[in-house]
Amino acid sequence: MKNITCIVGTRPEAIKMAPVILALRDDRFRVTVLSTGQHSHMLHQALSTFRITADIDLSIMQERQTLDAVTAKVLQGVGYFLDRAEQDLVLVHGDTTTTMAATLACFYRHVPVGHVEAGLRSHDLDHPFPEEANRIITDRLSTLWFAPTERAAENLRREGLPVTENSLFITGNTVIDALQATIKQKREPSAHLQRAMRHQGPLVLMTAHRRESWGKPLESICHAIGDILEARADLQVLIPMHKNPSVRETIQAILGQDGRVTLCEPLDYPDFIWAMNRCDLILSDSGGVQEEAAGLKKPLLVMRNISERPEAMEQGTAELVGTSRERIREAALAILSDESYRERLLNRGANPFGDGSASKRIVQGIRRYYERR
Ligand code: UD1
Ligand code: UDP
Repeated sequence: MKNITCIVGTRPEAIKMAPVILALRDDRFRVTVLSTGQHSHMLHQALSTFRITADIDLSIMQERQTLDAVTAKVLQGVGYFLDRAEQDLVLVHGDTTTTMAATLACFYRHVPVGHVEAGLRSHDLDHPFPEEANRIITDRLSTLWFAPTERAAENLRREGLPVTENSLFITGNTVIDALQATIKQKREPSAHLQRAMRHQGPLVLMTAHRRESWGKPLESICHAIGDILEARADLQVLIPMHKNPSVRETIQAILGQDGRVTLCEPLDYPDFIWAMNRCDLILSDSGGVQEEAAGLKKPLLVMRNISERPEAMEQGTAELVGTSRERIREAALAILSDESYRERLLNRGANPFGDGSASKRIVQGIRRYYERR
């Protein structure tokens, strides 16, 4: 039986790795879940939705932590673990500092790494920062690549990575597995969300956290929301705020006194899916929300200058609007006043990000890798 460690550090890694952890356990691999604790609250909130607890928790998070501190602590913590528990394979997910530093710790010990959500590229090291560099480093040092889309696989081939049919697998994105499993549970929204959402009219859901948006761009996003509310007296806005104090301070300062804006703590994953379903428009700079909105066929304005997920814009479920106050306002009002917009989205065909079987394909890929060695 192979020993596989799945490493997670932040909320999106937990949500997107959870289906893989569950599928590996179903397939009788011996799985250790290692949390770096880069996120404390938000990581465990996400894991608990899937009834997963970390076997090891490095608990590294500090308020307003720096990239250097996270990198150093993950590198040392994962290294310490690997020196004491021999692993056949380590799985990492995505593009966070946990992902990159954990991969480096494995590389230093010749432990093979499988990268889930491999091959995403914006081709701009500053957007998103530092995630584009984290992905490139992680992919360069990996042994197995689980690319969510054909385009992501092509990025890896083009970079000349030593991929073969036994090491590169196109799987779909595991977030769609998580989304479908959550929808299947048909959970009612929690009492506090129901209380906050008594309003029956049109609703905008907003999330923002990207490092490159801190300061002026986030201020511009918040002012755009104020403008949209001014133009539409029937509208309410729900903002589940990221725990990062740099993000919260800006949002609270600009929108905190507006009676039609509900600011709340990060929602449990099922509550957040409920809110995505309930709303008429999503404004977000998140990566995962782009894939989920495409799955739910919800209109999404991506508040970034560039995206590593162009499939959503090509399919027409998302529009890239940057962080300009005027552009966000105009695009949002246009969608909100177009009654047939959602109907047109519903006819846009299959979700380009996956069909809900990504984790099964990842397990098959791992089996194949061991059979062919
Ligand atoms: C991190 C990832 C980013 C990912 C995002 C998902 C890096 C460099 N960034 O960004 O790629 O998109 O997570 O949300 O890896 N905090 C809490 N409690 C929590 C979580 C965060 O208090 O549960 C606060 C802490 O003050 C912490 C700060 O948020 O220092 C920033 O967290 P950090 O993980 O460094 O960066 P994120 O912006 O969350
Ligand atoms: N999410 C959540 N609760 C919230 C906001 C987001 O569970 O209040 C989920 C969302 O459905 C998605 C993930 O968190 O799966 C995205 O995380 P985030 O935006 O923090 O990171 P990114 O995807 O940008 O790396």
